[in-house]
Amino acid sequence: MKTLAEETWSLDKSRQVYGVNRNDLHFLDISEEGDLFLRLRGKSITFKDIIERIKNINGDSPGYASSFTLRVPQLVTYQVKKLKAAFQRVMEELDYGGKFIGIYPVKVNQRKDCVTAVLRSDSDYGLEAGTKAELLLIKNVIEREKHRPIVCNGAKDPKYLKLIKECMKEGYNIAISVESVHESRLIMKRFKPEQTHLVLRIKPYLSVEGHWSHSTGRDSKFGLSIHDLYDVVELLKQRGFANSVKTILAHAGSQITEIESFERFGRLLTKLYTELRDMGLSNLVNIDFGGGLAIDYTSSETSDFMLRYAQLLVSGVKAHLSEISGKHPPPNIMIESGRGITALSTMVVVEALEVRSIFPPRDENAISEIIKDDERKTLDRIRKASTLKEIREIWNNFQEKYGGLNLAGMKFILEQEMVTRILEDAVRARLVELSLKSYDIDGLVRSFWRPEHIVIGNFSVFNSIADHVLVKQHFPVIPIQELNLKPQTTVRLVDITCDSDGEIAQFYRPRTDSIWFAKDNRLLTSLEGRMGEGIPVGSLEKIPGSCFVLTLAGAYQDAIEMDHNLLGDLPDVELYLQDDGKWALSWVTGAESIEELLKDVGYADIDVDEDPYMWD
Ligand SMILES: Cc1ncc(COP(=O)(O)O)c(C=O)c1O
Repeated sequence: MKTLAEETWSLDKSRQVYGVNRNDLHFLDISEEGDLFLRLRGKSITFKDIIERIKNINGDSPGYASSFTLRVPQLVTYQVKKLKAAFQRVMEELDYGGKFIGIYPVKVNQRKDCVTAVLRSDSDYGLEAGTKAELLLIKNVIEREKHRPIVCNGAKDPKYLKLIKECMKEGYNIAISVESVHESRLIMKRFKPEQTHLVLRIKPYLSVEGHWSHSTGRDSKFGLSIHDLYDVVELLKQRGFANSVKTILAHAGSQITEIESFERFGRLLTKLYTELRDMGLSNLVNIDFGGGLAIDYTSSETSDFMLRYAQLLVSGVKAHLSEISGKHPPPNIMIESGRGITALSTMVVVEALEVRSIFPPRDENAISEIIKDDERKTLDRIRKASTLKEIREIWNNFQEKYGGLNLAGMKFILEQEMVTRILEDAVRARLVELSLKSYDIDGLVRSFWRPEHIVIGNFSVFNSIADHVLVKQHFPVIPIQELNLKPQTTVRLVDITCDSDGEIAQFYRPRTDSIWFAKDNRLLTSLEGRMGEGIPVGSLEKIPGSCFVLTLAGAYQDAIEMDHNLLGDLPDVELYLQDDGKWALSWVTGAESIEELLKDVGYADIDVDEDPYMWD
């Protein structure tokens, strides 16, 4: 028989809690049976089926690990088309005269499956290189499509410029960014004005919100400051390069969540565009707005970032053009979105090896009668408490009496842990009963909601989602099963590195009118929408051997992976939906072997063809 709590739960509530079926997780959903599935062009594929198939086809492959990275290049294609369609729609609605030019910055995800998916999506899409190595990659990948625009950014040395020159000779369509006065001199020395397309990269003089806000405006590491811009323009004019400048570029930062700033950015760069044309750069026809399009990692946004982004940017450009009443032609709008194109396409599927509880199981015989008596009295007080203040006092009294006595040894610690668990349960239940608004008013009360179970996942946070540690980036984590149940509790997912940062407990608690709780009264949602600790799970019992999916990991994570503890790459598996509606998996690369990892740190003569991750 179902309990009342289970009867009031629904799939829609699970969708709300896990953030699936909307915004940037629109391609994930939950089946009636509670399984997480992927939806590609209307076809549903459960993660259980994907895992089953991998086990069958690749169980014996070298580098097999129970966890793997799932690549879905068709989601890259989907995003590229969506971005172009958004700009085309807005340009049509606003009767905008310029063109949209899409450029993919390969630094965001250089993997071949990703870059080729971008190219396959659109025959005019261009690529951006930030280094010589990236230019070599681009040269190779578009060898037969030299018409595609290439923007060469990044610090340029004579060798990078030599490679650019070779590419130009071979017929590639290259634009070279000028990022300093020194660079402008290097370029003018080596290139002929009539054959060169120059991009003036300017610091984004604009304040934006987000992790990278400190590096915008005058503090930006990239681009010409306003005084350098004046000097470079003067130099270019003196040496006959004024007509080589066809583009200006500024990148305002990544993951710009304060989306309204794009309207100001549109206005600002259009103002600079018209001023530079007035200064004699009359071939200037493009504005490259860099990247910055944000991903809705928390599924909490009400609007579609992509469409809104296009609307704001084009309106900003248009607004300035109207102020100068058509004195200059509408510029083509170039967009170098990276995160917005790639984030959806990569998911890390992590096998759960075991579940550990931080508290011991209850054993009545192990607790002394004196402590039991104290426990009874404290429980009674908790159940009668009517304010947060009272609860805090009761808790403090209990802590004062017992908290400092752990030196009394193992037996005492064991008793303490058993009692603490019961009391924490009671506090949570009482707080929920009282419907207190401030569930986490301070550090003390917050501790009651922390998960008491740790799931050990066969992965490395440092290798698979390094930004979780580096910039506290949130990657939504979703169990693959029992999502139809009201969650039993919440857990922390920890990796197998020996580093306490190798853990994901962060979970976005979506906004609901009244707070929803797991069966053990841990928080699932919040009144205002905020980050909390604890990933909800249907039940603890079925976790070992099951998986968790770390989503939206396609941007930057492959480029910055780390081999902490010599745990290298997980194997890569590519998923394709074929035209006949069948889906296919292919094993792209196995996990890096211990031998390769040791070689990287200087041990070339150790011969072990073993996978560094855990084996059953
Ligand atoms: C010049 C340039 N263009 C584009 C991007 C991509 O930005 P995003 O991933 O935010 O779209 C970057 C990121 O650093 C960049 O430096």
